[in-house]
Amino acid sequence: MWLTSSLVYSAVVCTLAGQGANAAITAPDFTSTASTESIKKTAGIIAKDLMSFYTGDKPNDVPGNLPDPYYWWEAGAMFGTMINYWHYTGDTQYNAASMQALLHQKGDDNDYMPLNQSKTLGNDDQGFWGMAAMTAAETNFPAPPKDEPGWLALAQGVFNTQTTRWDMKTCNGGLRWQIFPFNNGFNYKNTISNGCLFNLGARLALYTGNATYADWATKTWDWVANVGFLSADYHVYDGAQVADNCSVRDHNTWSYNSGIYLLGAAAMYNFTDGSPLWEDRVKRLLNQTTNTFFVNGVMRELCEAGKCNVDQQSFKAYLARWMAATTNLAPFTEKPILALLASSAAAASSTCSGGPSGTQCGLKWTTPGVNDGILGVGEQMAALEIVQSNLITTTPGWVSAVKGTGNSTGDPNAGSDSKGGVEALMSRPITTKDRVGAGILTALVLIGVVGGSATMMISE
Ligand SMILES: *[C@@H]1O[C@H](CO)[C@@H](O)[C@H](O)[C@H]1NC(C)=O
Ligand SMILES: *[C@@H]1O[C@H](CO)[C@@H](O)[C@H](O)[C@H]1NC(C)=O
Ligand SMILES: *[C@@H]1O[C@H](CO)[C@@H](O)[C@H](O)[C@H]1NC(C)=O
Ligand SMILES: *[C@@H]1O[C@H](CO)[C@@H](O)[C@H](O)[C@H]1NC(C)=O
Ligand SMILES: *[C@@H]1O[C@H](CO)[C@@H](O)[C@H](O)[C@H]1NC(C)=O
Ligand SMILES: *[C@@H]1O[C@H](CO)[C@@H](O)[C@H](O)[C@H]1NC(C)=O
Repeated sequence: MWLTSSLVYSAVVCTLAGQGANAAITAPDFTSTASTESIKKTAGIIAKDLMSFYTGDKPNDVPGNLPDPYYWWEAGAMFGTMINYWHYTGDTQYNAASMQALLHQKGDDNDYMPLNQSKTLGNDDQGFWGMAAMTAAETNFPAPPKDEPGWLALAQGVFNTQTTRWDMKTCNGGLRWQIFPFNNGFNYKNTISNGCLFNLGARLALYTGNATYADWATKTWDWVANVGFLSADYHVYDGAQVADNCSVRDHNTWSYNSGIYLLGAAAMYNFTDGSPLWEDRVKRLLNQTTNTFFVNGVMRELCEAGKCNVDQQSFKAYLARWMAATTNLAPFTEKPILALLASSAAAASSTCSGGPSGTQCGLKWTTPGVNDGILGVGEQMAALEIVQSNLITTTPGWVSAVKGTGNSTGDPNAGSDSKGGVEALMSRPITTKDRVGAGILTALVLIGVVGGSATMMISE
């Protein structure tokens, strides 16, 4: 995905004119468990508006793709949200589309590296699809047909391909942002890519009981902390260039970076049966997350003070999703997190009065009752996750193989014979579309790769 470097700002700015005066959502009382049915109903309205942007299940369209301006990763993130939606509400109407999308995009080697997407396929993009598959395993989402890999195997495929990319040549370790040398960002190591590996490793450890996953999670956390992406006071910074050995850090902070480490730390806390080390990390992260990303109990992204790009418009979805899951794995966080989820959901749903339906939600929640006219997949996803996360106390927690409650089919070696990465791309003819997409540099890089000098070829 493309963060600070993205030039694509939301094209989906609509006016408030013409909306039905009575169409806005009536916000339930999120602080009361008596509101379960009305929270589900609100979630259903927001989910419907969200899925109205999706056309991949229509004839002649590609399952798992969103139309422009949404990148591939955001569709993976969205199906993670839709699996959560089913888990929280029991509404099965989007399950078929979700399963179809998650299977269609799994790639030739069952590791979410479909060749069509090589232009925008970074470690974080792959990671979001992998985490969606992980969510499917953890929530007992209906299993794929017998001739398809299980959800667990798909998550393992992502994990296994990512660990092979751990790069000791610069910055003493870590994953690069991009996988392919010809993509902008190959020379950047970032927090979200490493966060995907950390989060997935911790959750795979919890699900399977296999300590190798936890060892990788620990190794990733330690690297992120040592390289200074995680500050002493638990700000989570964006990343750094490899050219100067990651010594100059981009200090942008994004809510999803805090969220991805928060849930991973909570999973490690749970996996270690409540170790004081991970408890302390969870507490400090939660404290800084609350200080940075909430104003008067309402979640906000810092870019909302100016302009958020299309990707950034969705980030609150993941912080909400991961804070909610944290309350189950690290129960000592339940009280403060539930309070924040309730106040944010009330504010978010009070903005859902825009668009053709009259119920689309705005980007900013910090001015309750006002739809700021910035509408789209990210806004719907964020509003849906914050609303449905209030159902966490009335929904069963995650299943796992360790507990004997989860039976998703796994494959510890998934993705390990994958011709993933540059090799996969080289094993088929390069099409005109690739050249147009990645630029003329594609061909040059591939020549460089053959000559064994891929990493030298392209700078930012
Ligand atoms: C790749 O693109 C082709 C042409 O648009 C499409 O038919 C196919 O379904 C795509 N594959 C994936 C995995 O998206
Ligand atoms: C690069 O940075 C890492 C820590 O981030 C350090 O351990 C290593 O010694 C540095 N290498 C060079 C060549 O400066
Ligand atoms: C544990 O996970 C590692 C890493 O994927 C794998 O190599 C190993 O075979 C797994 N062990 C078991 C018992 O499944
Ligand atoms: C781990 O999570 C389970 C539920 O998901 C919870 O019951 C248990 O108390 C947690 N463990 C610790 C040490 O908090
Ligand atoms: C919480 O964050 C504030 C602001 O950064 C800091 O002053 C305080 O020491 C932190 N408290 C804990 C328990 O980490
Ligand atoms: C897991 O168990 C459920 C319920 O017992 C069953 O319906 C499902 O088919 C099983 N899934 C797999 C992959 O075996």
